[in-house]
Amino acid sequence: MSTAEIEKRKTSSKKLLYIESYGCAMNFSDSEIVSSILKKEGFKSTNNLTEANLVLINTCSIRDKAEQTVRNRLKLYNSIKKKKNPNMMVGVLGCMAERLKDKLLEEEKLVDIVAGPDSYRSLPKLINEVHDGRKAINVILSKEETYADISPVKLNSNGVTAFVSIMRGCDNMCSFCVVPFTRGRERSRSPETIVKECKDLFDKGYREVTLLGQNVDSFFWYGGGLKKDFKKSGKITFINFANLLEMVAKIDKKLRIRFSTSHPKDITDEVLYVMKKYENICKYIHLPVQSGSTRILKLMKRGYSREWYLNKIKKIKSIIPNCAISMDIISGFCSETEHDHQLTLSLMKKVKYNFGYMFSYSERPNTFAEKKFSDDVTPETKKLRLQEIINLQQKHSFERNKSFVGKIQNVLIEGISKKSKEHFYGRNSENTVVVFPKNDKSPGEYADIIINNFTSATLIGELKK
Ligand code: SAH
Ligand code: SF4
Ligand code: F3S
Repeated sequence: MSTAEIEKRKTSSKKLLYIESYGCAMNFSDSEIVSSILKKEGFKSTNNLTEANLVLINTCSIRDKAEQTVRNRLKLYNSIKKKKNPNMMVGVLGCMAERLKDKLLEEEKLVDIVAGPDSYRSLPKLINEVHDGRKAINVILSKEETYADISPVKLNSNGVTAFVSIMRGCDNMCSFCVVPFTRGRERSRSPETIVKECKDLFDKGYREVTLLGQNVDSFFWYGGGLKKDFKKSGKITFINFANLLEMVAKIDKKLRIRFSTSHPKDITDEVLYVMKKYENICKYIHLPVQSGSTRILKLMKRGYSREWYLNKIKKIKSIIPNCAISMDIISGFCSETEHDHQLTLSLMKKVKYNFGYMFSYSERPNTFAEKKFSDDVTPETKKLRLQEIINLQQKHSFERNKSFVGKIQNVLIEGISKKSKEHFYGRNSENTVVVFPKNDKSPGEYADIIINNFTSATLIGELKK
C-alpha cells in the first residue's frame, strides 16, 4: 500500500461497516457482538458494499461447500474493491479464519484481517494495524471468552425473536467435525449476564429467545473457565443447563424459550422435566442423530448407539408427549454400506421427525475421520442416499403437519409473510411455521390459530374467533 493510500484510510472520516454472516446461528449472533464492539469505535452499519470502508465476512467451515461460498464472496469483494471501492478493508472472521489462520492471508491477497471467533474484542486494534500498513491476524482461542458483558447490536432483526449465546466450544470431538478445532473447548457464560440480556430483550419487546451453544446442554457455570477444569478448580457448586433454563423461563410467562443444539448424550431428564414444567419453554428439541447404524455412530464417535438414541426419544415422549423433534443426518460417512443406510431410514421411520437438516458427508482437514478413515463412499452414492433421506423426511413432515389440522395452535406472530402481504407468519411451540390472514394483532403478540390446511413446511390457519 502506498503512503498516500495509508493516509487516506486513516483520515477517512466516515466509518461504514458491512458485515455478512454464514454458518450457524452462533455466527449470526457473533456478528451482532462484532457490530457492538465496532459501534463503540464509531462504525455505522451499511448494506452497501461499494460505500463500506470495512467489509467483514463471518465464515463457516463445517462442509467444503460452506468454505467455497465464502471464497466466491471474496472474489466478488475483490472485483468491487478494484472497480468501485479502492479503500475497502476486508476482514475474515469466524471458523475459516480459525481453521486456516495465516494461510488465508497467503491465499486471498485481498484479505487484510483474519480474526478467529474468540478474538473480536481485538478488532479495533487489528484495524489500526491495517491502517499502519500491516496485515493483521488474531486466532488465539480462549479459555474464558464468552463476550458475556457485550450487549449485541441487533442486525436484520424482526424485533420479536433473538439469539442469546450461553456457551461456546465443544468437547465432543465427533470424528467428522471441524467445530472443536475452530471453536475450542467448552466454556459457559455467567447466568446473571444471560438472564440480564434476556430481560433486556423482553423489555425491548422481544418475545422469544433461543439459547445458543455448540453443545447447549453441556452448559455448566462454576464461576468461569473451561468445563473440563471444574474438578481441579476446587469449586463444588455449579449451575447446569436445567437450572439456567428455569432461571430464564421465570423472567416472564410471555417470553418463549428455545435452545439449540442438543447432543443426545448431554440432554438430561432434568432438562426434560423443566421443559414440561414451564409452558413458555417451547416443546421442541433439535436432536441430531447423524446415522441410524450403531457401527457408523461408533466410527463417528458420537457416544451413543442406535438403541440408546431410540430410548432417549422414548423418554422425551414419555415426559413431554407432544414434543416435536428434529434431526441432522449425514449420508455417506466413511465405509457406510447400503445396510447402514437402510438402518438410517428405518430409524427415521421409528422416530418420524417433525423436520430435519440433511447433508452428504464432506471430509474436513485434520479431523479424526480424515486422518484415520477413507472417504470411500462415491459422491453419486452419497447424493442418492441423501435424496432418499430427504424424500422420506418430506413425507414425515407432511404427515406430522397433517396431524395439526383442526387443532388450535398458540402462535407468536413474528411478522408479515414473505409470500403475501395480507398474511402474518409465526411459529407454534413445536417450531412449525404458521401462516394466517392478518388481523388486528401485531408482531410480538400471541394468537390462537385454528389450522385448516398445510404443506410439508407450513401450517395454514385462521384466527380463532
Ligand atoms: N453441535 C451440533 C452440530 C453442529 S454442526 C451437534 O453435535 O448436534 C451441524 C451439523 O452439520 C451436524 O449435526 C452434522 O449433521 C453436520 N456436519 C458436521 N460436520 C459435517 C461434515 N464433515 N460433513 C457433513 N455434515 C457435517
Ligand atoms: Fe461437532 Fe460433534 Fe461438537 Fe456437534 S457435538 S459440534 S457434531 S464435535
Ligand atoms: Fe460453521 Fe463454525 Fe458454526 S464451522 S456451523 S460457523 S461453529
